[in-house]
Amino acid sequence: MKILAISGSLRKVSSNTVLLRAAIKLTPPGVEMTLYDALGDIPPFNPDLDDLDNGVAPPSVLALRAALQAVDAVLISSPEYAHGVSGVLKNALDWLVGSGEFSGKPTALINASPRSQHAHASLMEVLRTISFTDVMEGLLTVPLAGRKVDEDSLAADPDVAPVILKTIQALMQAAQAQASSDAPA
Ligand SMILES: Cc1cc2nc3c(=O)[nH]c(=O)nc-3n(C[C@H](O)[C@H](O)[C@H](O)COP(=O)(O)O)c2cc1C
Repeated sequence: MKILAISGSLRKVSSNTVLLRAAIKLTPPGVEMTLYDALGDIPPFNPDLDDLDNGVAPPSVLALRAALQAVDAVLISSPEYAHGVSGVLKNALDWLVGSGEFSGKPTALINASPRSQHAHASLMEVLRTISFTDVMEGLLTVPLAGRKVDEDSLAADPDVAPVILKTIQALMQAAQAQASSDAPA
């Protein structure tokens, strides 16, 4: 089973990215989780540049779509900026509305800051809208913003690791259920 982890932050020392790196460390055997690291290459969404009928779009967008097609599930962690979803993440999601890679794709949202309520709710709504399936949320009670954290200590943190693990397990179950419902009768 394959999971694509997407961080909504471009910062080198992003707490959301570190959280996803910890998730990669905690991934159980049989699951391969990779971090998508090209969010900064996605151009501003412009429907004029998106020829869905002929599969023509900017190369970075086609690469993101291919990366999503290749996985069974998606795990997202994103910061909140000005009570909204990070612009780079929302921009990337806009490119995926028409092409449909999120359609029926089990998706879970975790969050490195319990303060980010507005962005979290908004991102849940966007993801539900484009995935047409239940979006799962793993809510951390420990704020990571401002803390010096690395993926090893997070993966061993008794407040953080169980939330990540439970989220991955829920994603795995949802992906298995999706695969069975997609299989020919
Ligand atoms: C311009 C700016 C606006 C922000 N606005 C909010 C906000 O509205 N609510 C909030 O909880 N945090 C806000 N923050 C804090 C970030 O969400 C927080 O620093 C987060 O950890 C950044 O994620 P990262 O470590 O993954 O880059 C803001 C930070 C910046 C730089």
